[in-house]
Amino acid sequence: MSQLHVFDHPLIQHKLSILRDKNTGVKEFRELVGEIAMLMCYEVTRDLPVEEVEIETPVATAKVKRLAGKKMAIVPILRAGLGMVDGMVAMIPSAKVGHIGLYRDPNTLEPVEYYCKLPPDIAERDVIVVDPMFATGGSASAACTFLKEHGCKHIKLMCIIGAPPAWEKMRKDHPDVDAYVAAMDDHLNEHGYIVPGLGDAGDRIFGTK
Ligand code: PRP
Ligand code: URA
Repeated sequence: MSQLHVFDHPLIQHKLSILRDKNTGVKEFRELVGEIAMLMCYEVTRDLPVEEVEIETPVATAKVKRLAGKKMAIVPILRAGLGMVDGMVAMIPSAKVGHIGLYRDPNTLEPVEYYCKLPPDIAERDVIVVDPMFATGGSASAACTFLKEHGCKHIKLMCIIGAPPAWEKMRKDHPDVDAYVAAMDDHLNEHGYIVPGLGDAGDRIFGTK
């Protein structure tokens, strides 16, 4: 059964408090999304396998641990997920990046797909799907379904703010996918926005409103 992980690290919570503030401008918002992604990445990758190797330090021989070469992919859901990519690849430079373009139909709140470009060997990679907002869960669930259709077997979902309906949907649709969020907010409003949330993540990252 999948698990929901909520990060209560003080650095993440502090940055999130500034991100939520309606007076935070585009530049700072963008930087904070990247920084939070970087901090969350640190925890999301906690279970990566390591192997012991022997090296020579200037002083002696030492047995040390290195990543065991697991192949990874970061898959942002466009647009807003793009804001999290730089922070992730700063931590995992060897990761490939795939893109899935989805937007929510404003009337039905259902995800509509408009773009997809994935690494050719995506089926062999451990995938971390990134998107700042996890509201109805429609976009995240559709992205995971799509990745599974491409053969992916190990998927994690990393979002900044979630809401209960999203987790309900994800655990039902994808009981094999763990979700990681910096906060679980209270509810959705009548337009499907997370309350209190941070507003429209894509518009705030790209300055389109
Ligand atoms: C936002 C957000 C998620 C989605 C979350 O994207 O980035 O992808 O909504 O909502 P859901 O959980 O109800 O699916 P949006 O559709 O606004 O597109 P954008 O990123 O292009 O602005
Ligand atoms: N998408 C957003 O950008 N914000 C929300 O609160 C919900 C979905």
